Amino acid sequence: MKVHAAALAGVPRSDETTPAFASDAIAGLMQHPKQIPPKYFYDAAGSELFEQITRLPEYYPTRTELGILRARAAEIATILPRHAALVEFGAGAATKARLLLDACEFAAYVPVDISGDFLNAQARGLRKDFPHLQIYPVTADFTAPFILPDQVREMPKVGFFPGSTLGNFEPHEACRFLHGARDILGKGAYMLIGVDLEKNERMLYDAYNDAAGVTARFNLNVLARINRELGGNFDLSAFTHRAIYNRERHRIEMHLVSKRPQTVRLRGRNISFRSGESIHTENSYKYSLDRFIALAKGAGWTPSASWSDPGGMFSVHALRS
Ligand code: AVJ
Repeated sequence: MKVHAAALAGVPRSDETTPAFASDAIAGLMQHPKQIPPKYFYDAAGSELFEQITRLPEYYPTRTELGILRARAAEIATILPRHAALVEFGAGAATKARLLLDACEFAAYVPVDISGDFLNAQARGLRKDFPHLQIYPVTADFTAPFILPDQVREMPKVGFFPGSTLGNFEPHEACRFLHGARDILGKGAYMLIGVDLEKNERMLYDAYNDAAGVTARFNLNVLARINRELGGNFDLSAFTHRAIYNRERHRIEMHLVSKRPQTVRLRGRNISFRSGESIHTENSYKYSLDRFIALAKGAGWTPSASWSDPGGMFSVHALRS
């Protein structure tokens, strides 16, 4: 009865993530300054735009990290335990995991992601290419505690958190995440983690203000998603993408700035904007090698090796529990 009434009222289809999205978006937009958590960028359209970002000439992190992993794969293989389970936090296209799976003798791969459909599609491809690998996808929000599959209980564990996704966390959240990963992976575990480095501000700025405007579309997509999934009426042409480097806080900030005074309707609420008022949509923290190592130590890990590219743009760290 309720479902029927909702359908008649034109309420958009709801899935398991919609209630959290609705409450987080509404709460964030009622706050001052307004904000929307960056994890909501990644619906199907946003994930596709992010894939395009990773191929932009200005966006160095993805190709630089892949280069480091490719160059160091053999060395990484000598550090990590053999026949371990590789546990990837927030598994994306699995391109980076494939590199490790090729170079190291893993017994199992456990991709953990909130999107179950995506995980299962990835797993099918991997099963073909790695017929001897045991694959156990886990559908979970990796920022909260989750349980590893029983089948990997006896195996050594290697956590994998590439892409500088850690940069989306506030420093205290990053510490809590690293602590939590240690609890999930257990005693004697290893962790491989990709971390973007502080650098020349122009290069940072350009990486988030690409000439083709893909990052702007990625940023604005979160408003389109609110319209699609939550029935909002954001006029996308009335907001502009802004990305700046905040030097004191070592982070890129992304904002959506209102071009004029306006009021948006969302689930029975009026959300008013002043001209120039922003919605803070993302922080992307940049670390120095020393600051990341201090963070990892503070979370109970022992840094065992760090690698970066010759330009010092990006880093990959091996941590021991
Ligand atoms: C996926 C969070 C690492 O911060 O560089 C890319 C996301 N935002 N361009 C990053 C992103 C704008 C990306 N992370």
